[in-house]
Amino acid sequence: MKAVLIPGDGIGREIAQSVRVISAALDTGIEWQEYAAGAEYAAAHGELLSPGTLDAIADCGWALKGPTATPIGKGFRSINVQLRQRFHTYANLRPVHSLPGVAARFENVDLVIVRENSEDLYKGIEYMLDDDTANGVKLITRAASERICRFAFAYAAKNGRKKVTCVHKANIMKLTDGLFLDSFRKVAAEYPAITASDVIIDALCMKLVQDPGQFDVLVAPNLYGDIISDLCAGLVGGLGFAPSANIGDAVRIYEAVHGSAPDIAGQNKANPSAILMAFAMMLADLGMADKADRLNAAIEALVAEGRTVTADIGGTAATTEFTAALAQRL
Ligand code: NAI
Repeated sequence: MKAVLIPGDGIGREIAQSVRVISAALDTGIEWQEYAAGAEYAAAHGELLSPGTLDAIADCGWALKGPTATPIGKGFRSINVQLRQRFHTYANLRPVHSLPGVAARFENVDLVIVRENSEDLYKGIEYMLDDDTANGVKLITRAASERICRFAFAYAAKNGRKKVTCVHKANIMKLTDGLFLDSFRKVAAEYPAITASDVIIDALCMKLVQDPGQFDVLVAPNLYGDIISDLCAGLVGGLGFAPSANIGDAVRIYEAVHGSAPDIAGQNKANPSAILMAFAMMLADLGMADKADRLNAAIEALVAEGRTVTADIGGTAATTEFTAALAQRL
């Protein structure tokens, strides 16, 4: 079985090396096809992706991607957004749950965020109306809205989840968010066994920080989904434990939610848990649920024990030490 590995920028190489070590320890049989991509590659070669990257992803259908840096307010478009659009990975799945041993505001968070990944303001349709006025287009289609809502309900049904909540601001954006909410209600009627509810984005943010336990699966248009994903990662102790999957019909790209962490890059300090949890999502989808469960359980046990953990969660272990201790457990 072949899969593409894109280390990316900053701490990407260090955490990608952890993936290789853990993949071998689990005896997954995955043959990694490694491709360079990101701002560092672009600075040296003038292109964001090394030759063959897109073909390899299309051929394999499976990719695990490290973080790639994106300039703010100028320069090239995010590689993530480009990959999502190129491979039509329309669903972004982000499970968020508490881990024993990780200091956090709440102890029993168990949420799944399903973010629409292909349209909304992230379509990138922006232009200047005049020198002093910029306009961005919020594009919402019925087809993409129904598709993501159906994905969320099907995921809930398959994974024993009881409730799906639609996130929107349809009181103000009556046409765009209104269409998303209408699509949600139509699809919800197809799943009578699952409770359907909806919440306005600003009210959701307050409710999440007060009592996240009242939510189960959240389905949201692209921008709201992006923001609440980080908010929810914060509820369970930060970005070190937030994995995600970009899912399309032919291609799946797994990644950590965090970025390239330039402040600690190259120092052997990064916590590889999030990319390893993304790797566990990939293993489960590849039919290796037993290995995925073993990997998640080993991360949880290592973190709960607290002796060999990285600096972001109060330890002193290097990335390589954490990885070796995890491999040892496996
Ligand atoms: P960031 O997530 O890279 O860093 C935020 C803070 O969290 C930093 O203090 C960093 O040291 C820490 N951190 C992040 N991941 C960590 C890990 N695995 N272990 C320990 N500490 C960790 O966010 P920031 O600084 O806003 O973005 C840096 C770059 O990453 C930007 O160029 C941005 O565009 C890019 N980025 C890429 C993403 C992706 O490729 N999926 C996602 C988010 C940001």
